[in-house]
Amino acid sequence: MSQHFQHDVLVIGSGAAGLTLALTLPTHLRIAVLSKGNLANGSTYWAQGGVAAVLDDTDTVESHVADTLDAGAGLCREDAVRFTVEHSREAIQWLIDQGVPFTRDDETAREDGGFEFHLTREGGHSHRRIIHAADATGAAIFNTLLEQARQRPNIELLEQRVAVDLITERKLGLDGERCLGAYVLDRARGEVDTFSARFVILATGGAAKVYLYTSNPDGACGDGIAMAWRAGCRVGNLEFNQFHPTCLYHPQAKSFLVTEAVRGEGGLLKLPNGERFMQRFDERAELAPRDIVARAIDHEMKRLGVDCVYLDISHKPAEFIKSHFPTVYERCLGFGIDITKQAIPVVPAAHYTCGGVVVDQHGRTDVPGLYAIGETSFTGLHGANRMASNSLLECFVYARSACADITEQLNTIEMPSDLPDWDASQVTDSDEDVIIAHNWDELRRFMWDYVGIVRTNKRLQRAQHRVRLLQDEIDEFYSNYKVSRDLIELRNLALVAELMISSAMQRHESRGLHYTLDYPEQLAEARDTILTPTPQAQPSAAG
Ligand code: FUM
Repeated sequence: MSQHFQHDVLVIGSGAAGLTLALTLPTHLRIAVLSKGNLANGSTYWAQGGVAAVLDDTDTVESHVADTLDAGAGLCREDAVRFTVEHSREAIQWLIDQGVPFTRDDETAREDGGFEFHLTREGGHSHRRIIHAADATGAAIFNTLLEQARQRPNIELLEQRVAVDLITERKLGLDGERCLGAYVLDRARGEVDTFSARFVILATGGAAKVYLYTSNPDGACGDGIAMAWRAGCRVGNLEFNQFHPTCLYHPQAKSFLVTEAVRGEGGLLKLPNGERFMQRFDERAELAPRDIVARAIDHEMKRLGVDCVYLDISHKPAEFIKSHFPTVYERCLGFGIDITKQAIPVVPAAHYTCGGVVVDQHGRTDVPGLYAIGETSFTGLHGANRMASNSLLECFVYARSACADITEQLNTIEMPSDLPDWDASQVTDSDEDVIIAHNWDELRRFMWDYVGIVRTNKRLQRAQHRVRLLQDEIDEFYSNYKVSRDLIELRNLALVAELMISSAMQRHESRGLHYTLDYPEQLAEARDTILTPTPQAQPSAAG
């Protein structure tokens, strides 16, 4: 039997953005935070590097803004960049107040107003401004926020709950456009429940799982982007998919990330013969922004026909390496690579979705009552290439801003009532799950081959043709069989892939992370790619 639940605020996603919002909202509100799997399965937990912020007195807002605009290749919205950076210090203070154990820097804690925490450096940043917890910053933040959330009786943390689709007034044929809640699969019971809420927040992360090789955990399927699109929201700049330059290359390592801070602390990229190459591509060498480094590695791998390049920090003292990068050290050692003595074999892998659901400065989408925060959203901060460690910052700043907006509306928005049940009367159990597994593999492989670091018109056309065939099969499957987590994710991923390909086809230039051999030049005018859903693209509310 399906069930009905009512909350003031429904947060879909339990990472940095979702937990921050839940913790900052007034404590009298009933809040549900949904996780598709276990609470720690999201991308936040795996973030190594840190959070970029203006914290040291020698750094300035202007400098952080300028670096972000530069990395974004002319496409950042300056108001969004400024807003984010100006709120960076208070966001970090909030995290410190929650108890996040950032790495301290007792040696350099200065009496002259210097910052007491260690700040590292990453690509594109002209200052040391990344606050971190060794090389496991995401885990430190996530564990702290989760611990706080567990102590709050008004916050329900619900695991194994997969949002299927949003419920809106329009989908129900009512007057108005408001978002009223969501249909949510409870994996333990195999039932789809109805969640009503006064405010719904999409904090589901990005869609890097659309690629065969990714640094992201399994859940990064673009769920929030797909649900928002189906609910009538615009999406922006989805052609900009960031490839992290350095993921561990090893047959048993499932795209383990080697943090950019390794390069920030002096790590050098080398070819198999030991020769450095980054200085041939950019004067900032290893500390150039990610799009440049990933493309340079891809270029050298193709030129030489090699499977990987190498990241070498073994010239630093062993104790320094072990204390700054304990996670990377241990993980590599587990594969027989002692990074205090040897270079690390690395390749680029899909890492971050720079575009997303179009939102304003409060995280408000085009649908009233629906917010998107974190990697799900498109705020204009990242432009054509996100600068390292700006994304966690965006999660905190926009979650806090969404909280302020929701709080202002509390007296005016009623709890929706009488939402219909999910209609499962026309579907049966699937006896052909092989289709789901096959389509997952096919989608991720052609996205890697055709919509990867280097694109062409022909490759994009091929990808578009393939994704439409897959979508037809997936839609048929979805109409006939009961939903499962795999099916919901595949349906979302295929839709987001289609939106990424359409966005890439509309951009007739190379800019930031979008590089195409057919239009290698950058146009004089920088424009966002905004896609608007048409009414025909909308599926029915249920079943
Ligand atoms: O390299 C890293 O640690 C990743 C940082 C980021 O993606 O912001």
